[in-house]
Amino acid sequence: MAVVAEEMPLSEVDGMEERTEHKLLGSGIGSAFELASSMPDEILEVVGGDARNAALLIANARSRLVKGGRLVGEFATASEVAKSKERVGFCSTGSASLDGLLGGGVETGSITEFFGAFGSGKSQICHTASALCHLPPKEGGLGGRAIYVDTEGTFRVNRLGEIVRSRGIDKDEALDSILYCRAFNVPHLEAVVRSLGGHVRKNDARLVVVDSVINLFRSEFIGRETLAERQQRLNILMHRLHNLAEVYGIAVIITNQVQSSPNTLFGDPTRPTGGHVLGHSSTYRVYLRRSGDERVAAMVDSPHHPYSEARFTVTDAGVSDTKKERGR
Ligand code: GTP
Ligand code: MG
Repeated sequence: MAVVAEEMPLSEVDGMEERTEHKLLGSGIGSAFELASSMPDEILEVVGGDARNAALLIANARSRLVKGGRLVGEFATASEVAKSKERVGFCSTGSASLDGLLGGGVETGSITEFFGAFGSGKSQICHTASALCHLPPKEGGLGGRAIYVDTEGTFRVNRLGEIVRSRGIDKDEALDSILYCRAFNVPHLEAVVRSLGGHVRKNDARLVVVDSVINLFRSEFIGRETLAERQQRLNILMHRLHNLAEVYGIAVIITNQVQSSPNTLFGDPTRPTGGHVLGHSSTYRVYLRRSGDERVAAMVDSPHHPYSEARFTVTDAGVSDTKKERGR
């Protein structure tokens, strides 16, 4: 498997004092990558001192990675940006048609959100992409492991086995390439997401799935008076996932539920949950709905894709092309 993020020790970060390094190492932040993908509040908690210092350490870790050619700097030439885009990879969802909608698959360095009603295929996309991620790029994978964070208890090993068997993929190799974590409540999910950098690095993971990002928040923050805190914590969680995608150059899939918007007079009243926080922090948003036996995916928010739709289906092989698409 490809090494995703080669080690860059904390000691290489400008202004890193030995005792700060010890404190960071002690709290599981073991490399410049982990420091760069951290949030100032958690660094402040670990190293103490003032908030500016914590922010500076993170900024220094980022600029060290920029100098090392691992990240694009705050101000980069267009050709540098173009070069970093060449490194972008795609993980297949299992359906060429859905991959086409996404511009080649689930993109590294970005967050792709799939939202839709019960049974619209969100978890099936998560399972299929996780099963394919370890494959080499020419076979639709990213050549690395997948980390599956499950907040709903809907992860199925048997289903993964069936998907890979139907596709002629070695089952043991596929199952060994997926790391599973069940998050039981919001604080647990927050801790898991905080620790993801280390797991991505140690396991050469190239895809992180959070299925779903919202349901624990919805069930634990009830009532209007809790909304502000819920949105703030969700925002921090999304920010962490964003940093993770960017710093480690990995693909992140999140799933989200829908709610009915009461003030829609015309058109589909279904809206993704999570409000503006989720809307602004996902790079791509894909709306899934059923249409008979098939599923329709619509790219509803993307910085560069036009609005478009794709059809796919769910079979023994997981997410797949419809017969019509296969015949094209
Ligand atoms: P919620 O998590 O309930 O919001 O829904 P979801 O969008 O995650 O739905 P999911 O991806 O679990 O899709 C469920 C649908 O996928 C089912 O209604 C089936 O149509 C299909 N499906 C699930 N498991 C299998 C399977 O083992 N074989 C086949 N052929 N289809 C399956
Ligand atoms: Mg699901």
